[in-house]
Amino acid sequence: MDSETQTKASVIDGKAFAADLRAEVAEGVAAFVARTGRKPGLAVVLVGEDPASQVYVRNKHKSTVEAGMNSFEHRLPADTAQEDLLALVAQLNDDPAVDGILVQLPLPAGLDENAVIQAIDPDKDVDGFTTASAGRLLTGLPGFVACTPLGCLMLLKDRLGDLSGKSAVVIGRSNIVGKPMAQLLLRESCTVTIAHSRTADLPSVVRGADIVVAAVGRPEMVKGDWLKPGATVIDVGINRVPAENGKTKLVGDVDFASASAVAGAITPVPGGVGPMTIACLLYNTLDAARRREGVD
Ligand code: GUN
Repeated sequence: MDSETQTKASVIDGKAFAADLRAEVAEGVAAFVARTGRKPGLAVVLVGEDPASQVYVRNKHKSTVEAGMNSFEHRLPADTAQEDLLALVAQLNDDPAVDGILVQLPLPAGLDENAVIQAIDPDKDVDGFTTASAGRLLTGLPGFVACTPLGCLMLLKDRLGDLSGKSAVVIGRSNIVGKPMAQLLLRESCTVTIAHSRTADLPSVVRGADIVVAAVGRPEMVKGDWLKPGATVIDVGINRVPAENGKTKLVGDVDFASASAVAGAITPVPGGVGPMTIACLLYNTLDAARRREGVD
């Protein structure tokens, strides 16, 4: 393609979509309160002082309250014993005011992350991280889907409508993004390939895809000439790299400049997938509350 005939991809505005979704959730919350006389509740557990986690937890608290829900924050010191953390999770599982539980990761060294996550009641697992939630997704049972892949799917369906028959490549095989993303796309009747760091000739695998979801954690790895013209590109990467001015900047796993000259639509970083994660957490929490109360 020469520069005269190149079409610029449309940029998928995840920030605006997430704001609309949060407003929709807030409406749903108001209807839930009118019907049941109580607010949905999200409990967030933060162990230790990790600065990034503190920012995430603060943002989650603010968004939860703005949506009209109760936010229960539990901050524990970094030297918390495993049994005390498990006791807190058990208490939250039993608390009727708590519909959703999120244990912020990573946990400080010495705590068994997996054991803590698996202790969460699957019916309150709004992060979708338990093996029960993963199994429910795999087998098509109702359950909670991890927030980031759920947000990616919403953006894709908003952009493309019916995904049936499309070929999709997910780059990355993590439990919290790549694997659930592939399952969601399969559920939408896409033909799904999961690519990863050992995939041979990744560019030619990506070139066959109508939908590309990049979740590898490698800055600007996916180039424009890897893409099928018109492909829809969802960039899950958040990588901090040195900028020209001596500071740092955020970039995705996709080289936006070259990719946006070939793709049909693409999410930017920041402002693409990122804002969808908290919005989907609120969505899952309202869903959890509705299921627990048996209301639509
Ligand atoms: N740490 C970074 N992102 C997340 C998330 O989505 N959920 C949890 N529990 N921890 C995280």
